[in-house]
Amino acid sequence: MKETVNSVLQRATGYRLTKETPAQRREALARAKRSAAGRQRNAQNPRKLPPPAVPTTPAQQRRQRLRGMSLTELAEEFGTDKWGGHWYTPHYERHLGHLKRERFTLLEIGIGGSVKPGKGGWSLRMWKWYFPKARIVGLDLYDKSFVDAPRIRTYQGSQDDPAVLRRILQEEGAPLVAIDDGSHRSEHVLETFRILFPLLPAGATYVIEDTQTSYWPRLGGDRDRESKTTTMGMVKQMVDGLNYEEFLDEDYEPTYSDTNVVAVHCYHNLVFIEKGSNMEGSNPAKKERLLPENQVTREPASAGDS
Ligand SMILES: C[S@@+](CC[C@H](N)C(=O)[O-])C[C@H]1O[C@@H](n2cnc3c(N)ncnc32)[C@H](O)[C@@H]1O
Repeated sequence: MKETVNSVLQRATGYRLTKETPAQRREALARAKRSAAGRQRNAQNPRKLPPPAVPTTPAQQRRQRLRGMSLTELAEEFGTDKWGGHWYTPHYERHLGHLKRERFTLLEIGIGGSVKPGKGGWSLRMWKWYFPKARIVGLDLYDKSFVDAPRIRTYQGSQDDPAVLRRILQEEGAPLVAIDDGSHRSEHVLETFRILFPLLPAGATYVIEDTQTSYWPRLGGDRDRESKTTTMGMVKQMVDGLNYEEFLDEDYEPTYSDTNVVAVHCYHNLVFIEKGSNMEGSNPAKKERLLPENQVTREPASAGDS
């Protein structure tokens, strides 16, 4: 018996090809025409999306304006000298921009306005708008509680007082960003770093502003650029400390900064220090220490030595 396409198909799949009737063909043609006409209509008149929510009240309009601003624009809006007096905001955006949508605590030492009542809070307000999910905490020698607002909390005390720093961390959590824009006196900057840096989590960024005071004796600085007691003296030691595993001294004891600073970025008057584990180990140093010229030569023992 002669096999047809349909009999083979039916055996294999259980289906048969059916012929379209003229009526079915007319209906398919009409359907195709209707959908082509619909596509053309849509292209000429794209479907209207609902309009974006228009801020109606002045407060809503202000919020929308602030949300769209860069850090530099926010600095200008709120009057901090992080842009204008200094040129820090692009560096901040570069190092902290990745935290824009994150939930974290930012602590800034130095709220501004010093002893003047009702003055200060400029940078805290800037941070609040730049980091819409962050908790913004400030510390100042003077009472700045007038700056307190949703997501902004101020504390009063000196930046080198371990008790006040520990209290802030207990109440606010360990900051992922800590900024020292306080007295700018080298002894305060060094002491604050000594207390605060070990309390920060890995991944934290510690910022020191206005490092120019390192060279000014009136603010605890030193004309001697080799001095180790100034802010920049500490920072320069930290830069060497990044490579402590390469030192040839057998008895070198790494400092906390040596083992916990993974990067130091220096700009004009501004330093960013990144926290993390700096313990990669060093193969080249092992070989280098074995070279005869790097062996420590000891004095031969004298006859009287036991
Ligand atoms: C440069 S202003 C801070 C400006 C602010 N961060 C801004 O960018 O808008 C310095 C502030 O540090 C405060 N300050 C000075 N010595 C301090 C100390 N030992 N501890 C805490 N704050 C101090 C001053 O009262 C002053 O308000």
